Amino acid sequence: MTNPTIEAIVDRVLEEAKRFAHENSGDPGMSHTFGYFTDHPVARLNRERLSLTLTEIAERAPGGARLLDMGCGGGLFTAAFAASGFRTAGVDLAPEEIARAHRFAEKMKVEPALFEGDLQAADWMPKVEEALGGRPEVVFYGYCLHHLPDVPDHLRSLGEWLPGGSIVVVNEENPRSPTWFLKNALRSVIQRDTKEEHQLSHKKWSALFAAAGFEPVGKVRGVDMLPGVPIGARWSQVYSYRKT
Ligand SMILES: C[S@@+](CC[C@H](N)C(=O)[O-])C[C@H]1O[C@@H](n2cnc3c(N)ncnc32)[C@H](O)[C@@H]1O
Repeated sequence: MTNPTIEAIVDRVLEEAKRFAHENSGDPGMSHTFGYFTDHPVARLNRERLSLTLTEIAERAPGGARLLDMGCGGGLFTAAFAASGFRTAGVDLAPEEIARAHRFAEKMKVEPALFEGDLQAADWMPKVEEALGGRPEVVFYGYCLHHLPDVPDHLRSLGEWLPGGSIVVVNEENPRSPTWFLKNALRSVIQRDTKEEHQLSHKKWSALFAAAGFEPVGKVRGVDMLPGVPIGARWSQVYSYRKT
């Protein structure tokens, strides 16, 4: 069942994202946050992953909760969180992404706190805490965790920082998905792009989270390009952990 409030926010964010992408079509770095949500063939998948993420968070956190978007990129999800009423902050390594996130937030008429920072360090944590008025109650990773060179070390410092009971929501591509595997195989042939991907299955992420004091909560949600794919094999998955 879909939530009409969430779907209205998704519609608005995607409409603005499309305009933003067209207005900035000369900016090649727009593609991975905004281009994929507009005319790209995987746009439908991305619409659903935004919708699933907002649904998952709405089920686990009260409106107005302090929320941190890790590796926020150009801030599309960040703006959606802020527009949903969360006290929102975003952190990203890339200054150009943070600059885009500021411009997109302005377009969306929301004011998340945005910081340039390396998730592999912890120097941005006090700034986020001050901006949110406390430690986050919800942390979100959108296609970000697999970029980090040392996930166990990052999760250890996250676990030390977050209060017990806080929720971490993860959205990652699923290496057990046949359609995702096929997409990567086609990309490596057509685009001659042999970039290594480090996405892990839900089971493997869960083992890393468990070692840092987080337990899985709720069920895995997922979307795929094809209909009828079982959740465990879907391309893009959303799932949560609770700090014990
Ligand atoms: C695929 S993009 C995802 C952007 C956004 N979360 C989304 O779902 O649309 C991954 C982002 O992670 C950021 N990133 C990668 N390594 C990082 C690090 N060590 N610290 C902070 N951000 C990082 C990148 O700059 C990039 O913006």
